[in-house]
Amino acid sequence: MVSLGTPLSPSATRVLLLGSGELAKEVLIALQRLGVETIAADRYDDAPGHQVAHHARTLTMSDPAQLRSLIEAERPDVVVPEIEAIATQTLVELEAEGVRVVPTARAARLTMDREGIRRLAAEDLALPTSPYRFCDSLDELRTATTEVGFPCVVKPVMSSSGKGQSKLDGPDDVDGAWAYAMAGGRVAGTRVIVEGFVDFDYEITLLTVRSLRDGGTVTGFCAPIGHRQEAGDYVESWQPQPMSAVALDRAQAISAAVTAELGGLGVFGVELFVRGDDVWFSEVSPRPHDTGMVTMTTQWQNEFELHARALLGLPVDTTLRNPGASAVVYGGVEATGVTFDGVDEALALPGVELRLFGKPESFARRRMGVALARAEDVDAARATAREAASRVHPRA
Ligand SMILES: Nc1ncnc2c1ncn2[C@@H]1O[C@H](COP(=O)(O)OP(=O)(O)OP(=O)(O)O)[C@@H](O)[C@H]1O
Ligand SMILES: [Mg+2]
Repeated sequence: MVSLGTPLSPSATRVLLLGSGELAKEVLIALQRLGVETIAADRYDDAPGHQVAHHARTLTMSDPAQLRSLIEAERPDVVVPEIEAIATQTLVELEAEGVRVVPTARAARLTMDREGIRRLAAEDLALPTSPYRFCDSLDELRTATTEVGFPCVVKPVMSSSGKGQSKLDGPDDVDGAWAYAMAGGRVAGTRVIVEGFVDFDYEITLLTVRSLRDGGTVTGFCAPIGHRQEAGDYVESWQPQPMSAVALDRAQAISAAVTAELGGLGVFGVELFVRGDDVWFSEVSPRPHDTGMVTMTTQWQNEFELHARALLGLPVDTTLRNPGASAVVYGGVEATGVTFDGVDEALALPGVELRLFGKPESFARRRMGVALARAEDVDAARATAREAASRVHPRA
């Protein structure tokens, strides 16, 4: 039996979010609705999640000592990593000392580094992936690109949102890709992965949820989410992405295998490439996924509600309600405390909703909000979501 307490009382069920961006903000709202006492941590003050939690904490979560003292001071029932840049080895140690980490500390550690998750998926689980090599020097990269072949993609092993990532069409691109990766990683001078370029028809995020039901762990799948990336960053997503029955079966089997290996409870965003009936595993987030923001307008329980319920040991429902799409609203300007013009024009479109994240500082390519649209079909929803996003104008 699962029991929940009363926030701000001795019976409270307390959940700590490590990372308080727009995804954490929605998880926090879902937890608030269940009367959970929430603690939001981020590296800067007034982060989106800080603004909706009972308690806001600012610290450097990649610093093992700071992370440990936060968790020892707060004593939460559950710790929920919401970003990759965390001292995950400290989470592994704390978990061994009895702290509950969602889904597991090992999942957070393996997925913060492309090498950990790629070797697990391709070598331990024998899942289909692009061919790949890891390199620590320009010389190694030169050799590796000839083995993997062109075109290929080079990425720092520790990076996200496309940072330091480039596509190489031939040997002339190798030097530039190495320099770009060295400048773009989360940790200076780390290794890179070179991957064969997959010429996919489309790519999806398959939200996969591990939850408890009748005392056992069950795995559920949301309808596939299609998305479009620009410079490694998602610009629009839609649900459901049409797929062949064979491709969907393969996508679910890959997702079931990788999430079972990572274990624990919660939502995972499994990124897959699809061409015809063939499916390749790309990577996985052990948490809600940015492309899954579309579920705020398409599912009975969106990915944040699914995560909140699953991590509390509650049952979930992954059913699609209607087709829909999301389109990102970028900052466009470099300024603090921006004003958003055109919100009324955006919301005048049929079936449109808007989320403005409340980030204190804007820059050109910073994601400041998202437009959501539901419609009869995905094509109509995409057109409406894009139009809505284009009507919102952040200004200094
Ligand atoms: N091997 C590949 N073949 C073809 N396209 C690729 C390949 N690797 C990456 N891409 C493209 O680049 C995008 C970003 O790559 P990836 O997901 O590995 O990086 P990321 O920095 O982790 O991005 P994010 O954190 O936003 O998910 C992919 O969604 C895909 O569109
Ligand atoms: Mg990705």
